[in-house]
Amino acid sequence: MNPNASTTAQSHPRVLIVAGPTHEPIDAVRYIANRSSGRLGLSLADAATERGCATTLLLGPAHIETNSEADPTNAGSKPNPARAPDSPRRLLRFRTSHDLEALLAREATDADILIMAAAVADYRPASPHPGKLPRTDQGLTIALEPVPDLLAATMPRLKPGAVAVGFALEEDGGDHDRALAKMARKGCQAIILNPLDTMDSGGIDATILFADGREAITPGPLPKAEFARRLIDIALDLLARDEAGAQEGTRS
Ligand code: CTP
Repeated sequence: MNPNASTTAQSHPRVLIVAGPTHEPIDAVRYIANRSSGRLGLSLADAATERGCATTLLLGPAHIETNSEADPTNAGSKPNPARAPDSPRRLLRFRTSHDLEALLAREATDADILIMAAAVADYRPASPHPGKLPRTDQGLTIALEPVPDLLAATMPRLKPGAVAVGFALEEDGGDHDRALAKMARKGCQAIILNPLDTMDSGGIDATILFADGREAITPGPLPKAEFARRLIDIALDLLARDEAGAQEGTRS
């Protein structure tokens, strides 16, 4: 890892972080969701902002204090004191996978770094009921349709040289082959293999797998804020490598 990565990459890389769950409506009241606190995403946004990146956080319906004056749900909060003086930060909220799909289509095209930490639902009700479904004594079958893989769908929209990092939440946190297959399927440059208990924890015990075959293991469980700083530096380092590679290409 290069602790000075932020100085080797362009001065204000645009970082797009996606975090939190999606809520997929069953009717006007109920929904299907994944467990996700959104805390890691917020730490990533803080870390990117501290590094001077122009940061956009797309945040799902998570109940966390965002400490961002850009958050309409958080009016009156104080600016983050750790923010680099001239690094802008935006917060945009989504609720459903449809909302997120539309936001990604709009926001991903000028990102230098995309970090997809969201717990996107894999299935959603095919025809949400417009009102409130009445309770009966009968069973209820809900037809579900697959949610498209949003990270895979976003990859072709990224500009050349942009870096994308995905997450692979795996049982026991140890299935490297499954995580590698996921990274290949999605087409991202790195994937964070982490166990199921990351979801409700203040810490994360992760292995970072790179598309070029490298692997980085964090030293035991790290607080999410500390892991976030390391991951932002790793992403900035990948971006700097891409830029250096592109310059080599133009010279030769
Ligand atoms: N992801 C996505 N769109 C989905 C589901 C997941 O973009 N519909 C992203 C997640 O944000 C994460 C990565 O894909 O960066 C892997 O998510 P994960 O839940 O670990 O894997 P899945 O692809 O959903 O596969 P599985 O549920 O079989 O593990």
